[in-house]
Amino acid sequence: MNKSHFYDFLRKIPKAEIHLHAEATIGRSTVKRLLVRSGNPDAVTVESLYQFNTLKGFLTSFLFVQGLIKELADLDHMFEDAATYLRENNIVYAELFFSPTGLIKKGLKFSDMIDVIQQTITRVEKRDKLTIKLIIDVSRMFGVENAHTNLELTLKHKTPMVIGVGLGGDEEFGPALTFEDVFQVARSKGLHVVAHAGEVVGPQSIWDALLKLQVQRIGHGLSATQDPKLVAYLAEHQIPIEICLTSNLITQKYVTKAEQHPVRQLFDQGVLTVINTDDPSFFNVSLIDEFWTLHTKLNFTMDEIKQLVINGFKASFLSDAKKTAYIKQVEKAWLAASEK
Ligand code: ADE
Ligand code: ZN
Repeated sequence: MNKSHFYDFLRKIPKAEIHLHAEATIGRSTVKRLLVRSGNPDAVTVESLYQFNTLKGFLTSFLFVQGLIKELADLDHMFEDAATYLRENNIVYAELFFSPTGLIKKGLKFSDMIDVIQQTITRVEKRDKLTIKLIIDVSRMFGVENAHTNLELTLKHKTPMVIGVGLGGDEEFGPALTFEDVFQVARSKGLHVVAHAGEVVGPQSIWDALLKLQVQRIGHGLSATQDPKLVAYLAEHQIPIEICLTSNLITQKYVTKAEQHPVRQLFDQGVLTVINTDDPSFFNVSLIDEFWTLHTKLNFTMDEIKQLVINGFKASFLSDAKKTAYIKQVEKAWLAASEK
């Protein structure tokens, strides 16, 4: 299938994305506007913000962009930009990470932020016929106390829009097991739990996330293939791995070429793999681009691509009934697109 046919085809298919940072869906034109508003637009150029080749370099830019968010109204723009990204990719269900730490430190109230985001998401869901849920990133880089605070705020301002907590940030800086208590409380309160692990640290980091934090999904999980027992465990327990291929190629810890990416091996060994962009504006990548890379560089057939799309819903935190309904929609749309 040629590229434009592939993109047209995939655009017709409803999709899910479950590892996506809200701050990283802010469009570059919005970033430009926020830079100008900051009063010092020449100190940092937009172009320089998107140049990095390590996780640390990326996270510096990520935090800088987050720092440009000053007002509650900016959150409305952020989630409108997220909606634009979702629409362009025909993503009908998304679980977005939202990292409140920097904004709380700036004096914004968590409850106010949640209220604004709730309003925006309600409007977007109705208008664009999609569903957005939030996972609060408790942030390993700011330490355990901060993570506890984020969790307390999440529990205090409970809303059906917020479905879980996640551990993001630099894995080298904060080992998963340090956050055992935070995650134990989160689980006991019925929140879903996920963690970035095996992105820049070896398989022990993934084991810690699984056995100490008892997470339900692993973000990245790249280093899992260094430990065959771990791959067998992931496959046996059907623990989803949120693959972020382009993200991994840009941060360059374990892979620099798509052909080397372990997604092929994990998929072939029966691990429940799900495709995501992680930070689409920063990596200049869309979900459909990710599928195109898998098709052309890792020989994923169209049937396998369909399975990966279905996996997005399967690995989500939707109810079983909703998963079944969405998967039926995928099957139907796939058939219709194939007949054209
Ligand atoms: N926050 C946003 N993107 C991230 C990534 N790839 N790893 C860790 N934290 C992140
Ligand atoms: Zn991420």
